[in-house]
Amino acid sequence: MIDAYQISSQARVNAALESLFVAPAPELARLYEAMRYSVMNGGKRVRPLLAYAACEALGSTPEQANGAACAVELIHAYSLVHDDLPAMDDDDLRRGQPTTHKAFDEACAILAGDGLQSLAFSALLDPRLSNLNADTRLRMVTALAFAAGPAGMVGGQAIDLGSVGLKLDQAALEYMHRHKTGALIEASVQLGALASGHANEDNLHALSVYARAIGLAFQVQDDILDVESDTATLGKRQGADIARDKPTYPALMGLEQAKGYALELRDQALNALRHFDAAAEPLRELARYIVERRH
Ligand code: IPE
Ligand code: IPE
Ligand code: MG
Ligand code: MG
Ligand code: MG
Repeated sequence: MIDAYQISSQARVNAALESLFVAPAPELARLYEAMRYSVMNGGKRVRPLLAYAACEALGSTPEQANGAACAVELIHAYSLVHDDLPAMDDDDLRRGQPTTHKAFDEACAILAGDGLQSLAFSALLDPRLSNLNADTRLRMVTALAFAAGPAGMVGGQAIDLGSVGLKLDQAALEYMHRHKTGALIEASVQLGALASGHANEDNLHALSVYARAIGLAFQVQDDILDVESDTATLGKRQGADIARDKPTYPALMGLEQAKGYALELRDQALNALRHFDAAAEPLRELARYIVERRH
């Protein structure tokens, strides 16, 4: 665990997120309740933490990245609500509680996901969350739209669903993971860096090498935990990938090899930060956390 840093960053993003779920009319109370339920239900907040840590690594205060932090978590929450739907992974448990379509209903979960996706882009543009110039905001919106969309996360999810029961080779599995999970993790780092106001070609390149490595490591670890953790710790059903015959790293290369690969990716990420000073320590800690986490 990354302790105090993680706890204070979680509190920061949770306070900012909470302010977004005020229904503008009583008729919308249930929709807003479903959106709030899907976001404010725990969650490690790894993507917001990455946005804050990247912003700090470039010498700014984490508050500058509040819009970015909310935006990436809102996209993530929407992706989970839809991922859990019967038409996709058909899961009943998320973050230790009933999935949104179980707590509400399917139509409500679909719309809550849709709503969260729009709220993510509003959050990037919201002057109450962060005070950034128009050019920076434009770059952030462009990056997030790319990462979340059909050439990013949505594309990865499409490949995932099309791969059930198939035996993918390592290149195909890596392509899928880089899209369904890696893209948004990379965007989290990039948005945090842009929010700092100190991004340049060199530091963005180094951060992108870091983010590509931990983005893949994150999903490799997610696959490992599906095999060796338990439902209570995970807050989602252990063994769900195996039950559904999903292509995963442990299935492809075996559990021990998959663990070794996650550590190799962590080292690649740390190496990418070698020219950064102590301000990048939270980013380094996050790289370690991603492959050591137990849920
Ligand atoms: C789970 O993400 C889904 C993946 C992309 C692997 P997290 O492990 O970040 O889930 P929460 O947000 O902490 O619940
Ligand atoms: C989810 O991957 C990735 C996205 C939601 C984009 P998984 O299907 O492996 O995530 P979990 O295991 O249900 O959290
Ligand atoms: Mg899935
Ligand atoms: Mg799933
Ligand atoms: Mg999984």
